[in-house]
Amino acid sequence: MGDARHAMVNGALLVEDLPVEGSSPEGGTISVWTLNRPEKLNALNSDSHKAIKEQCLRVEADDNVRCIVIRGAPPPESPEGKRQKPVAFAAGADISEFVGKSSDDVRPFFEDNAWEAVWNLSKPTIAMVDGFALGGGTELTLCCDIRIASDRSTFGQPEINLGLIPGGGGTQRLCRLIGYGKAMEVVLSGDMVSAQDALDMGIVNKVVVAEDLESTTFTLAETIARKSPYTTKVAKRAVRAALDLPFSEGVLMERSEFVALFDTEDKEIGVNAFLERSEADWVGR
Ligand code: COA
Repeated sequence: MGDARHAMVNGALLVEDLPVEGSSPEGGTISVWTLNRPEKLNALNSDSHKAIKEQCLRVEADDNVRCIVIRGAPPPESPEGKRQKPVAFAAGADISEFVGKSSDDVRPFFEDNAWEAVWNLSKPTIAMVDGFALGGGTELTLCCDIRIASDRSTFGQPEINLGLIPGGGGTQRLCRLIGYGKAMEVVLSGDMVSAQDALDMGIVNKVVVAEDLESTTFTLAETIARKSPYTTKVAKRAVRAALDLPFSEGVLMERSEFVALFDTEDKEIGVNAFLERSEADWVGR
């Protein structure tokens, strides 16, 4: 990958669009969003939500963005004599914003939040997790399509310890991802879940040593970013529909999406590239 084509700090988020060599149509990028409040373990406050929602709108409108990777900023070096802060993806919603709030205070915020904005993206998303991903942090990873974690990561839904429950879709997404019993265990115990246990439960797709996290994640992101951007959206939409549709309706829906792809230029390009043993030069339609 080359240098960032688009790099900016947007409130609590650092955003970089990294060009992908060999993408077609040309100009494809991976948009990398770094949750950037490391002194607070990247806890998601209202600034984080605003920035993520803004970026969701931007990448939906930018045809060059083929895939999104979300990660946490590494902890700053601790001053002499002070304890080093731990590595984190995000240690949850910012608990300091909960103090003294009533349901009327928080409802508007939770009705228009970053978790749903990420979930509703039509493009593929990957959470690259190193360190704590707790509460809203775990929920943000669950809003991504794929989760890759370092072996020193920790997941969990500790809201029960605050007299709360997950509010970013965690109960629903966990249940669909790992099943009723395991989701209940995570939500009711509030216990921390090690990376290995998260892998065994099916919360994460892959666990690697911390040194390999970036290369593993970006190799996958690049692989996805080199597909037809049109077809990746159809594929995501089809798999996603399985969460809502009865099985028989889902199979019909998939068939209709599959058949419709026969009217696209990219189907003709992909099939001919296979037969000619050449690289597909997608046009994205
Ligand atoms: N919201 C706001 N601030 C948070 C936070 C959160 N969810 N998680 C961590 N922080 C802040 C701490 O207050 C602390 O700030 P300070 O240095 O200004 O005092 C800083 O991040 C470092 O956290 P600290 O608790 O000192 O680190 P630790 O290594 O002792 O513990 C955790 C790490 C992740 C175990 C602990 O921070 C924790 O339990 N966080 C909350 C997790 C949670 O309940 N999330 C669900 C929220 S709904």
